[in-house]
Amino acid sequence: MLLPIYLYGHPVLRKEAEPIEAADNNEELKKLIADMWETMYNSEGVGLAAPQIGKSIQLVVLDGSALAEKFPECENSRMCLINPEIEPAEGAELVSLEEGCLSVPGLSETVKRPDRIVMNWLDENFEEHEQEFHGFLARIIQHECDHLIGKVYVDRISPIRKQLIKSKLNNIVRGRVACDYRTKAATSKR
Ligand code: NI
Repeated sequence: MLLPIYLYGHPVLRKEAEPIEAADNNEELKKLIADMWETMYNSEGVGLAAPQIGKSIQLVVLDGSALAEKFPECENSRMCLINPEIEPAEGAELVSLEEGCLSVPGLSETVKRPDRIVMNWLDENFEEHEQEFHGFLARIIQHECDHLIGKVYVDRISPIRKQLIKSKLNNIVRGRVACDYRTKAATSKR
């Protein structure tokens, strides 16, 4: 089932997401994960965090495989992340690259992030993993994990850039934005 994507300005995108308990490993969660995959692929995104569909829980789906030609590290990167914890890897360097977000349609901005991270997470079967990631895949992961702590990538751009896109952001807050997928704006009258 396709879920509406909550847009920039909606309070749910500003909340700290709750961890998922082992007891939450049930059919309802499986259905939610399946719906998030469907919603992500339908909107041609490479990642979707639960707050973006209105659920303040620590759950992310991502798949950067469509970008593998430009970023080979993204090949076969389909992953479900439950309660992910990330930190920069030793010796990581800050790199600036362009990002977009399904909750901020029509915009993309350059964001500076560490190029290598280490992540601990549970997969959809609640199996624990720890692995290092680099390049654009590390960036997708960091972008999605930001959603779980109430951050959106435009919080990480320069104040000057943010000022320049302010009116566009305000339009998104008001739901005045053309989009190929279903959305839910902060002040939507629908
Ligand atoms: Ni995003």
